[in-house]
Order: sequence, then structure tokens, then C-alpha cells
Amino acid sequence: MKILVVGSGGREHALCWAIAASPLCRKLYCAPGNAGIAQEAECVAVAADDLDGLVRFAREAAVDFVVVGPEQPLVDGLVDRLAAAGIKAFGPSAAAAALEGSKGFMKDVAARCGVPTGAYRRFTDVEAARAHVRAAGAPIVVKTDGLAAGKGVVVATTLDEALAAIDAAMVGGVFGKAGAELVIEEFLDGEEASFFALCDGEHAIPLAAAQDHKRVGDGDTGPNTGGMGAYSPAPVVDAAMAERIMAEIVRPTLAGMKAEGRPYKGVLFAGVMITPRGPKLIEYNVRFGDPECQVLMARLMSDLLPALIAAADGQLKTYQLRWHDKVALTVVMAANGYPGSYAKGSEIRGLDAAGRHADVVVFHAGTAVRDGRIVATGGRVLNVTATGGSVAEAQAKAYRAIDAIDWPGGFCRRDIGWRAVAREKAGR
Ligand code: AMP
Ligand code: GLY
Repeated sequence: MKILVVGSGGREHALCWAIAASPLCRKLYCAPGNAGIAQEAECVAVAADDLDGLVRFAREAAVDFVVVGPEQPLVDGLVDRLAAAGIKAFGPSAAAAALEGSKGFMKDVAARCGVPTGAYRRFTDVEAARAHVRAAGAPIVVKTDGLAAGKGVVVATTLDEALAAIDAAMVGGVFGKAGAELVIEEFLDGEEASFFALCDGEHAIPLAAAQDHKRVGDGDTGPNTGGMGAYSPAPVVDAAMAERIMAEIVRPTLAGMKAEGRPYKGVLFAGVMITPRGPKLIEYNVRFGDPECQVLMARLMSDLLPALIAAADGQLKTYQLRWHDKVALTVVMAANGYPGSYAKGSEIRGLDAAGRHADVVVFHAGTAVRDGRIVATGGRVLNVTATGGSVAEAQAKAYRAIDAIDWPGGFCRRDIGWRAVAREKAGR
């Protein structure tokens, strides 16, 4: 088969790495890809949000199957457009991708399906929103309804912060149309995990859980980022908890989406808060997590590609996937300054040496080749991914490989996995 992967980050590198290993894959393209992806796939210069360009390329290259990485093209209807052109794709339709595209819609679906989630209200009127937070008090969570490149959520610890978040979105228009409507919801306390399930519109099979580190600094301090590192499995999601998440969150949502005429196909990424009263849904994403995908792919023993095709074909009912028991851990290397402004174009050396370390693979998230050199082109740039018998072992291997990378223009956290390592030390 000829496969096209859409996207250019570490998630897409991991997907290409897994798909390229499939005996079913005869030719692999990635649009637009990056310097690391170019080692697995032929990169084509079409942007991930250029729907016309992607459909045209898929048709001209006679692509058999498209795997869409990021949320924006899904929410914009890429899978619908490909279907109309007779091209099969992995990912939800635009109608189903609204689970991520509209947080208000997602909360309404959860409420209708009886999925445990924080209490919430939707607002299009700024005075009503202000009055609500004044009455409810802090901590409280203010979210833009629409996609805001991961910046639309404010977990406000004070009333002033909540009011400022409302004003930024609704008066300042910082998020454009995405912030014209807000969801204001109850603050959930607990330990967070990312749970992934593969869905075919009717049936879902669990993939695995992971935990990521959203804050930029060691000890989970500093501003929020897209994710600075992740590991899988997640100790808070044992087999019993995974079954509860499937039974209480994933399956009811899938049934509800089908009943609403928006059957959900693709990977469903549930952000879950593990609370003393059980798992609660924080949010849905309609794609693999980044960097969670990188650790999932490092642990997956089965061939990924036929599983994605089975999801698109509605054939998951009896599908089985096998996973390595080992732990996978990935450390994100980012450009100095990230998540604020950062320079592009700094040279990265030592990648070959790092990649030669046993049980290590270096996924590229934002790189390009300039004059035969690898340079950084993004905020998050590399994902150094290692496997081991424990979180501590995987962590040690990842950092040893990182120490072989010579990149003065970048940095990483030095404590990815710390909660799990502490648990291992305490023997829990
Ligand atoms: P994002 O992935 O950018 O949408 O960020 C959402 C993050 O905000 C989640 O990963 C949580 O850490 C946090 N968050 C969102 N909603 C809540 C909530 N109701 N209670 C506590 N934390 C939340
Ligand atoms: N790492 C979180 C996300 O992909 O949204």
C-alpha cells in the first residue's frame, strides 16, 4: 500500500517509524514531514492545513491510505474531503472531530452520555461569565470553546485570574473566534493521565495510557507547554483503572456519538483526572498525543498499520494488539526560550551518536537539513525516546543519549518521569 502521513512533528515521526516497519507499506509519504521523518518517508512540501493540496497530492500519487496526525485538518474536514475523493483515511470526520474542536460540544456529549466530568456551563456573554465565576469562586477553569493551539485553557487559582482569562478571550479577542464562547468548569484535583483508545465508529479497543509533563521547568514548574516529556505505562492507570475508563468514559461516548449521527473513528485521546472518586474526563482530543504517541509507538509490538486500517473499516470488534511490558520514556528537547519566543536555525550535532545508544530512538519534532546540517526549526525539536525494564532505567538511557547531543541552542527537563521513579523507589 501507498501511505500518506499528514503532519511534521515528533508524533508524525513516530507514526512514520511504526508504519515504515509494516510489511503492508510499500511506499510512505509524509506531508510536510521534517529532517528525521525524511529517513523513513518521502517528504512532500504540502502543509498539514492545506486541505486542497493534500487531497490533490493523495489523488495524484494514488495513495491508498492517509493517516492524519494533527487536530486542525481533522476539525477542518480533511477525512471527509478524502472520502469524497474515494481515499480512505484514519481519523474522525469533521462532525466527530468536534469532540476536540468545540469544548462546549464535548461537555454536552459527556453530560448526555453520563460520562463523569467536571460540572460546567457555556457562555457567549461576558457579563454572565463574570457573574458565574464571582459566584462560584476559585479555583476554577476557563476554556475557549474552539481550538487555540493549546493555549485556550486557564486553570485559575484566584478569582482575578479567572476574570482576566474571561476578558482576554471575550473582550481582548486574543483567541479570535475560538474565544467568542467559553466553557467555565469545576477544577478537578488528582493525578492526570492520557488514555488512548482506537475506535471504529462502534467498537473501541484500549491502546495504552501515558503521562506527560506540561510545565517547562523541572519539578513541574513554569509556564505550560505542548508537553516536555512522557512515559508509558502510566502507573496510575493499572488494568482495573483502564477498564473503568473504557466502561465509564470511552464506550458511552462512542455509543453517544453514534446515536447523534457522528460515529467516531480514529484514536480517541481522553485526558483523564484520576480522583479519589474514580476517573473523570478532563477533555477529549481526536488525535494521538504529542509526545505521548512517541512512547506508545516504542511499546507497540503489533503492526500498527493494519490496526489503523481496521479502525477506518469498522473492523475493530475482535482486533487484538500486543504491547511490550517494558517502559518507554521520551524527553523533549526544545529551543532555548520555548514556550516563549525562540530562535530558529541553530545547528544540532551528535544525533547519530545519540541514536546508536541501545534501546534509544531519536524522533525529530522540528528539524530541517540546511547545507548538509541538521538545524532546529521549531519550539519542540527532538524527542529522545528510550525503553527499559523500569521508568528509572528508561530515564537513565534517555539522558545518556541526550548527553551525546551537541546543541547549545536547546534545552530539556532533567526529571522526566520523576513521579513514577519516586513510586518505583518507594516500592509502590
Ligand atoms: P490543554 O491540553 O492545553 O487543553 O490543557 C488542558 C490542561 O489544563 C489539562 O491537561 C489539565 O492539566 C488542565 N485542566 C483542564 N481542565 C481542568 C479541570 N477541570 N481541572 C483541573 N485541571 C484542568
Ligand atoms: N501532550 C498533550 C497533547 O498532545 O495534547
